[in-house]
Amino acid sequence: MMQPLLQVDDLTVTFHPKKGEGLPVRAVGGVSFSLDSRETLCILGESGSGKSVTLRALMGLNPPRRTELGGRVRLAGQDIVGASESRLSALRGGTVAMIFQEPMTALDPVFTIGTQIAETVRRHEGIGRREARARALELLERVQIPSAARRLDAYPHELSGGLRQRAMIAMALSCRPRLLLADEPTTALDATVQIQVLLLLRQLQQELGMGLIFVTHDLGVASEVSDRIAVMYAGRFVEEAPIARFMAGPLHPYAKGLLGATVHGDSKGMPLTTIGGAPPRLDRPPPGCAFAPRCTAARPECSQALPELREVGPARTARCILVPGTRHTELEAA
Ligand SMILES: Nc1ncnc2c1ncn2[C@@H]1O[C@H](COP(=O)(O)OP(=O)(O)OP(=O)(O)O)[C@@H](O)[C@H]1O
Ligand code: SF4
Ligand SMILES: [Mg+2]
Repeated sequence: MMQPLLQVDDLTVTFHPKKGEGLPVRAVGGVSFSLDSRETLCILGESGSGKSVTLRALMGLNPPRRTELGGRVRLAGQDIVGASESRLSALRGGTVAMIFQEPMTALDPVFTIGTQIAETVRRHEGIGRREARARALELLERVQIPSAARRLDAYPHELSGGLRQRAMIAMALSCRPRLLLADEPTTALDATVQIQVLLLLRQLQQELGMGLIFVTHDLGVASEVSDRIAVMYAGRFVEEAPIARFMAGPLHPYAKGLLGATVHGDSKGMPLTTIGGAPPRLDRPPPGCAFAPRCTAARPECSQALPELREVGPARTARCILVPGTRHTELEAA
């Protein structure tokens, strides 16, 4: 059987504080999924649910000294967990690239866009300056920056937010990645520019045959660009499904709450529901289902043991005892 581009098995990420500075934080508590080339997975979840930490773990970017990784991540046939820094940095130079939420943190204010992209290309491909500049121009054209030749000599602050984000994408593409990670690449942009950037990403993904993992808070955005969605809560996936099936009816109570809080096709004009309460502290996770304190359907047994992530349909999993197919419901039916 063909190996997927990315296979993640029971990934955990724990941050250990300095002595006397609190308890370890289990930011990712056992995440499993796989991704093929040309496929888009969207990871959706509230602030602090572990989305960025998960993405960073996929390319070995969490601060190495106090981070403990567990489980297995296999990217294009190579193991990431436990790989040496030089190995990881070689992977980041070719196989995987990341687009960050705020492009200004990734672009250097003192160099022109053209110089920055050309330098990355030179580092990866060992080509000469002229050729690298030509590649930088080609990349700016590819991400549809108007008057690309002129923009090569612009500094990051001279570009609008949308163009900066495009420049950032060009930079990420410069190493011809097979996997592109996009961490909320559009939240800083206004709605129309957001959609343009998303559609561009999707188009580039198809053209270049990349796998794409896309992180967002916004279910509307997720439904526009992804093939599959994974809903993350307190460091774990609580539901994963093909996007159309998910939008037609999420199964996990938290995922239902998210859909209820989003304006989409059928619900336009209907009152939005919001999910009360706040996520748990990851240094003191509750026993059992982490959503129990906020879940209107919770039962006493929800807080006793962590519900398993179970297969509940084709390419669909959920972690809730009330979802048909999960163990407790089977027991009840017996
Ligand atoms: N280096 C670190 N050391 C300790 N804790 C960390 C570190 N990085 C992240 N965390 C913690 O891990 C948890 C998950 O953080 P993460 O940044 O992945 O959230 P997120 O889902 O991306 O949120 P947002 O939507 O706000 O970007 C948070 O509680 C955060 O405080
Ligand atoms: S396991 Fe229980 S608390 Fe958790 S989401 Fe399901 S019903 Fe709610
Ligand atoms: Mg984040």
